[in-house]
Amino acid sequence: MTESLATVSYIGATILFILSLGGLSHQETARRGNLYGMIGMTVAVLATLFGPRVGMAGIPWIVGAMVVGGAVGLVLARKVQMTQMPELVAFMHSMVGLAAVLVGYAQFVDPTAAAAFSGVEKTIHEVEIYVGILIGAITLSGSVVAFGKLSGKIGGSPLLLPARHWINLAGLIAVLYYGYVFINASHEQGLQALIIMTVIALLFGVHMVVAIGGADMPVVVSMLNSYSGWAASATGFMLNNDLLIVTGALVGSSGAILSYIMCKAMNRGFISVIAGGFGTGGGTPAAGGSVQPAGEVISISAQETAQLLLESKNVIIVPGYGMAVAQAQHTVFDITKLLREKGVSVRFAIHPVAGRMPGHMNVLLAEAKVPYDIVFEMDEINEDFPQTDVAMVIGANDIVTPSALEDPNSPIAGMPVLEVWKAHTSIVMKRSMASGYAGVDNPLFYKENNRMLFGDAKKMLDEVLAILLTSDH
Ligand code: TAP
Repeated sequence: MTESLATVSYIGATILFILSLGGLSHQETARRGNLYGMIGMTVAVLATLFGPRVGMAGIPWIVGAMVVGGAVGLVLARKVQMTQMPELVAFMHSMVGLAAVLVGYAQFVDPTAAAAFSGVEKTIHEVEIYVGILIGAITLSGSVVAFGKLSGKIGGSPLLLPARHWINLAGLIAVLYYGYVFINASHEQGLQALIIMTVIALLFGVHMVVAIGGADMPVVVSMLNSYSGWAASATGFMLNNDLLIVTGALVGSSGAILSYIMCKAMNRGFISVIAGGFGTGGGTPAAGGSVQPAGEVISISAQETAQLLLESKNVIIVPGYGMAVAQAQHTVFDITKLLREKGVSVRFAIHPVAGRMPGHMNVLLAEAKVPYDIVFEMDEINEDFPQTDVAMVIGANDIVTPSALEDPNSPIAGMPVLEVWKAHTSIVMKRSMASGYAGVDNPLFYKENNRMLFGDAKKMLDEVLAILLTSDH
């Protein structure tokens, strides 16, 4: 393949990646977005493989690596459950970080690459190597710890070392110092500086992520996604590969925007997320709320739930992480269909951080074939709760807690939530009184107009469905 054909293919792939990101922003166009991405990546790989830079001797190596990597990816993708997706993403980010580190070292030790530059160009190339390895190493170790935390192999509670901000500052100063040494040193001394910086960057990545509490982990995954993009971009600079620079920048900026959107949805400052320390491992309440919920909870049976639903004109369903755990989405849709046939208006309210990753609930509902036109974002539907007969909360907790609005001392104070308690009746479906991911108690459970349907969401909904099917209402 000639140089110009490879360049045209790279431009084509870049356009397809941009179209892919555009498509992924809406449910209706997400499939098309994925398709564009797959075609773009195929074009990019083929143009690289048969392009002018890879000689015939290099092809077996690349194909061999692709077969091994592809096989591992295929096995992982087939095995992974929807709820484990953030872990898989974290694992993949660590691979991008590792690749950036390896490419950086390869560039540094490769005598032909070193001989190709002199003067200012050589300095720029060395800065690219240094920065690429730095971002890659932080991404690598940070992602490995994130993977460990998300998969439960490492505890979810934040580990806060004394004077941790000072430790980070000392690390930053050391990295700057060794950067100076690296650029001004001989080859051997340069390698030494590079290795010391890599160790500091790896430790920094670990330190940064262990300090972050369970509730903020999805933001961290998205932030590492952004880092992995910048690491790829830095690799593109090292290899003088425009496609890698642009693709890395697309991933880097979209990851940063996503982190920002998530922080906004939780009313958390991005800096305070990175500074760490918020939340617990999940399940045990975090300290900080001044108003402890009190009173009695009123439980309800599947029979009574079915009755309430049948007597309603308007129902809003609020799905949360528990629906994903129970895999109850298909039963939820069967109930929705049945109620709609009986003339009940059923809509879904989706909180931007419901579940454990962006769009988690939308994906599950789309899998169950729930029509898009009855699925609403929080801002579109939150005002409708006062005119709603039943708000049915399925395995959600933090995203429907009134203390976020009512208790300024709550750890999640200010987080926008779905105001289900304003409905005539709210029904919360969960297995126990345990708290949600942020570890805060939920006063909703004690409200007079709230009912608790205790049990696994799928099991309870199956019971409700069975009763609805036999009802002649
Ligand atoms: P959570 O607050 O984690 O609550 C989920 C509830 O589901 C739990 O209280 C649990 O109670 C229940 N549950 C678990 N398994 C169940 C089952 N099999 N059947 C029935 N119920 C079950 O989830 P949420 O309301 O969706 O909120 C999401 C949380 O994740 C928020 O804190 C949010 O800030 C955080 N977060 C999410 C994101 C993204 S992007 N989604 C990003 C950052 C942070 P029981 O144990 O009693 O059953």
